Amino acid sequence: MTSAIEITGLSHYYNKGTPNEVAAIKNANLRIEKGELVAIIGHTGSGKSTLISHFNGLLKPDEGKVFVDGKDIWQSKESLRESRFKVGLCFQYPEYQLFEDTVFKDIAFGPKNMKLDDEEVKRRVLRAAQLAGVKPEHLDKSPFDLSGGEKRRAAIAGVMSMQPQVLVFDEPAAGLDPHARKQLIDMIKSYREQTGCTVIFVSHSMEDVAYLADRIIVINQAEIAMQGSVSEVFSRGDELTSMGLNVPEITRIFLMLREKGYDVPKDVYTVGQAVPHIKRLMEGGRAI
Ligand SMILES: Nc1ncnc2c1ncn2[C@@H]1O[C@H](COP(=O)(O)OP(=O)(O)OP(=O)(O)O)[C@@H](O)[C@H]1O
Ligand SMILES: [Mg+2]
Repeated sequence: MTSAIEITGLSHYYNKGTPNEVAAIKNANLRIEKGELVAIIGHTGSGKSTLISHFNGLLKPDEGKVFVDGKDIWQSKESLRESRFKVGLCFQYPEYQLFEDTVFKDIAFGPKNMKLDDEEVKRRVLRAAQLAGVKPEHLDKSPFDLSGGEKRRAAIAGVMSMQPQVLVFDEPAAGLDPHARKQLIDMIKSYREQTGCTVIFVSHSMEDVAYLADRIIVINQAEIAMQGSVSEVFSRGDELTSMGLNVPEITRIFLMLREKGYDVPKDVYTVGQAVPHIKRLMEGGRAI
């Protein structure tokens, strides 16, 4: 089976050949398999947004190749166009791109551009609204009458309605209040469960990463520094710290408890995983 996304020897420079040249991604190699849910983490300016902009040809590599579903996207105009349909990108603060007078029209914008008939456009809008958690009664409202979290989900539904095989989010929960944030993260989880599509997201929240991801890709200073399962990556806490990153807060708390002599595991990455251990301690679990 071909990978959803494969990148080989990818480098990207901004302002190439000028005194302001920046190597934003250097010789990156990665593979994302179909159906995977992958998190990309890295400190500010490490190159995450630059990397994901290559997944559907929004940026052109200075070196290296990008394959979507096994096809070199820069091989022809058609393959580039195809990659735009196969890989949906949700930018940071996607709600800034809402512009129609109703939520329905905003979600319908992509499918309409694909020249689908009205029935199919409507079917897709309703399905995307359901997947993104946009309430049916909001479809006829102006996007500007919605709350921050609702606007964000409406904008995401506008990408989902194109029915991409791969959905890429750049910091999907940034700037939302804790409640809207939780709703959005749960929505991404259920979207993957319901559609089986490949999902890639960039995040600064190690909690969200531990909760959602099957696999983590770590970028440090324009290079891929680590790739692995959640436990493989978060067990390398010292290296992450040296890259300006961290492990989830609950993991740090459990490491501290261990140092104090409590019998708790060190591979706890989510609050859900922590609960039975905390209960046990509260019921009189002894220090080792
Ligand atoms: N349009 C641009 N022109 C020039 N330099 C840029 C441009 N976009 C990004 N850069 C630089 O390229 C590097 C990588 O930026 P990028 O936005 O990909 O990082 P990031 O990991 O997404 O950061 P953040 O976590 O802040 O979103 C940084 O040094 C940034 O300053
Ligand atoms: Mg970014």
